[in-house]
Amino acid sequence: FHTVIEPFRIHSIEPVRLISRSERQARLDEAGWNLFALHGDDVLIDLLTDSGTGALSNEQWAAIQRGNEGYAGSPSWFRFRDAVHELFPFKHVIPTHQGRAAEKILFGVVGGSGKVIPNNTHFDTTRAHVEFSGAEGVDLVVPEGLDPRNRHPFKGNVDIPALSRLLASRAEDVPLVMVTITNNSGGGQPVSLANLRAVRELCDEYDKPLFLDACRFAENAWFIKTREPGYVNVAVADIVREMAALADGMTMSAKKDPLANIGGWLAMNDDALASECRNLAILTEGFPTYGGLAGRDLDAIAVGLRESVDEDYLRYRIASTAYLGEGLERAGVPVVVPFGGHAIFIDARELLPHLPALQYPGHALACALYVEGGIRSCEIGTVMFGMGADGVERPAPMDLVRLAIPRRTYTHNHLDYVIEVVTYVARNSDQIAGLEIVEQPERLRHFSARFAPL
Ligand code: F0G
Repeated sequence: FHTVIEPFRIHSIEPVRLISRSERQARLDEAGWNLFALHGDDVLIDLLTDSGTGALSNEQWAAIQRGNEGYAGSPSWFRFRDAVHELFPFKHVIPTHQGRAAEKILFGVVGGSGKVIPNNTHFDTTRAHVEFSGAEGVDLVVPEGLDPRNRHPFKGNVDIPALSRLLASRAEDVPLVMVTITNNSGGGQPVSLANLRAVRELCDEYDKPLFLDACRFAENAWFIKTREPGYVNVAVADIVREMAALADGMTMSAKKDPLANIGGWLAMNDDALASECRNLAILTEGFPTYGGLAGRDLDAIAVGLRESVDEDYLRYRIASTAYLGEGLERAGVPVVVPFGGHAIFIDARELLPHLPALQYPGHALACALYVEGGIRSCEIGTVMFGMGADGVERPAPMDLVRLAIPRRTYTHNHLDYVIEVVTYVARNSDQIAGLEIVEQPERLRHFSARFAPL
């Protein structure tokens, strides 16, 4: 049979409700047209993020009961560390309360003014921590990764000649090279093992450590299995270990592929770097055997990590994301192809050609999806990335709207509803007005800026 089903039964439910269109418009006005400022109860289908929003399994709930809350040396810590080591055998594992805490610690040690950190594409918090340290973040994704229509199978790949040029001209300023798997900001696009190997070779040539931002490692490994020649018969867990073996360390948010609601870690092989990072971790995260997490969280992550590389789960996960993408493509909505792992990205710049980038077409579309259908999504474009470290606003490379799919949470009926709403909004997209920003903070403005329609 061809139907890919959810490989689970629903064990506990959380009701959702749809408030009226006029109420949604009023709530959006009150929120300053910022979807982050809505009350969650006023959202019917929440596709804001796939981060921490997944459903736990019965085994994870059981593990939560097993959690031990000892301050130091908790058995939960050892179960967590061993589960991390099964996939990512880095010598030092430092738990953190989420991914950005790992970034803050890492760039607090290796960043600083004059430094430059290359990445395929920095996620927003990664870029913010790089810049907060005084360093410069450079995005070096392959040109195909910036073309929403290009069907290259690994659009998250690093542009090797560009990385080579950067290292040749500024080697002494580069403390490490980062690669984000999958490339979230570039459309949830994977990085091939061949590309990671080429990055590794350059890192060896210049004696630089390679760090993975590995939030969506399992989805990346599934794409390698299904798209990269020679991997179809290799187990996903082995592909993950092969990716890890090419790197010297990693930052991680356990809120993504590890199927937990909170958590993260920083890992590396270098003893001196680990010692500095651990000292910083104690300042903000706590003792290094719990790192800002309850023991029960560490246990939920340990079980989630093993579930994340289950191939029945991954087949369903990637198929359900593609189901949403195919439905939108059939309706003529411009979406980034090939479909990413955790989300479908709508090309708002193409759908709303009447809006210049500095009127935020992505954000305007996201607001329309909420007003028309109670769906919350997220702009990944000029609002998120348009403000330069120099205080000058420029169009981001793309204006996308991300429909992120929480793991094991919504059924295909929910996705059918999303397809219907997006199709309706797309057919009436010439009615969508641009926005201006009326208030914004210095950094990470998308979380708290207030907007007004033009
Ligand atoms: N790196 C990537 C690639 C991410 O997608 C995220 C978070 C982080 C780092 C930071 O992790 O949230 O645990 O501190 N992405 C979420 C998202 C928020 O919606 O894409 P965190």
